Amino acid sequence: MCSRRWELSLALELLLLPHLFLATSMQDYSKYATSGSNVSLSISSLPRNYKSLTWFYTTDQKIVEWESGQLKYFNTKFKDRVRLDLQSGTLHIHNVQKEDSSTYLLMVLKDHGYEDEWKIPLVVLDPVPKPFIKVKKTQEVNKCYLTLSCVIKDQPVNYTWYAESLPKEFQSSVLEVTHTPQNYSSSYTCQVSNPVSRQNTTVNFTSPCVQAPSSGVAWTATWLVIMVTTVLGLLWI
Ligand SMILES: *[C@@H]1O[C@H](CO)[C@@H](O)[C@H](O)[C@H]1NC(C)=O
Ligand SMILES: *[C@@H]1O[C@H](CO)[C@@H](O)[C@H](O)[C@H]1NC(C)=O
Ligand SMILES: *[C@@H]1O[C@H](CO)[C@@H](O)[C@H](O)[C@H]1NC(C)=O
Ligand SMILES: *[C@@H]1O[C@H](CO)[C@@H](O)[C@H](O)[C@H]1NC(C)=O
Ligand SMILES: *[C@@H]1O[C@H](CO)[C@@H](O)[C@H](O)[C@H]1NC(C)=O
Repeated sequence: MCSRRWELSLALELLLLPHLFLATSMQDYSKYATSGSNVSLSISSLPRNYKSLTWFYTTDQKIVEWESGQLKYFNTKFKDRVRLDLQSGTLHIHNVQKEDSSTYLLMVLKDHGYEDEWKIPLVVLDPVPKPFIKVKKTQEVNKCYLTLSCVIKDQPVNYTWYAESLPKEFQSSVLEVTHTPQNYSSSYTCQVSNPVSRQNTTVNFTSPCVQAPSSGVAWTATWLVIMVTTVLGLLWI
């Protein structure tokens, strides 16, 4: 009876043992990268005289391992894109893709069965495209109601509107404003951003309910003028 209990406690201890020797550090912020760029995943200080070192993409997929003098790059999608720096433990990945986003794991085995591990979350994102501003107008006597929508192809972004009339930056994709002849903004800028990039587009107003032609339209107008003058010129000859 007594011996059974002892066995049980020993079994329990053995079960708990590996956890006592394992120190995990989770990086509490994500590392962001633009798709196509080169990324280095690193830790602040690598233990000296480690016995083995392994980088994982997910908990069950090894990227590279160093053990008893042998360096092995596993046959993964990273095979020709990674390089391990044995001095610092840094993993260099080039040409990262969105699918490379993951919580990477570095596991280092030291003497006497002590193990250190680091978790590094990496998020790879496409740069945001230039947004488009859609303008909806409803005109009344001395008033113009405007709905400005900042449009972007399906992609998570943050929106920020800038205009003289806005007391502070306005953060939403749709902005509703009322223009009067006495009080209106001649310019609205919508900026879209994600953690790796930002882009903006501006619409201008020449009067409360009249949009200034965009640069593209202005160019077409210039081209028309040139055409007409040329044709008229030819007629004169
Ligand atoms: C990424 O690294 C590769 C080779 O390591 C190099 O040829 C390329 O110019 C680098 N790209 C950028 C964007 O730094
Ligand atoms: C001008 O318009 C903005 C909003 O469109 C409003 O906040 C502000 O009070 C107006 N100012 C005047 C002087 O009417
Ligand atoms: C939007 O902004 C919030 C707060 O600054 C940030 O946590 C979030 O990651 C941003 N989202 C994108 C897609 O940039
Ligand atoms: C809009 O983008 C241009 C460059 O693309 C930059 O110079 C300008 O400061 C940006 N404007 C705002 C309001 O973010
Ligand atoms: C809006 O006006 C600003 C300043 O007058 C100018 O720099 C910009 O090119 C204009 N944008 C458009 C789209 O017309």
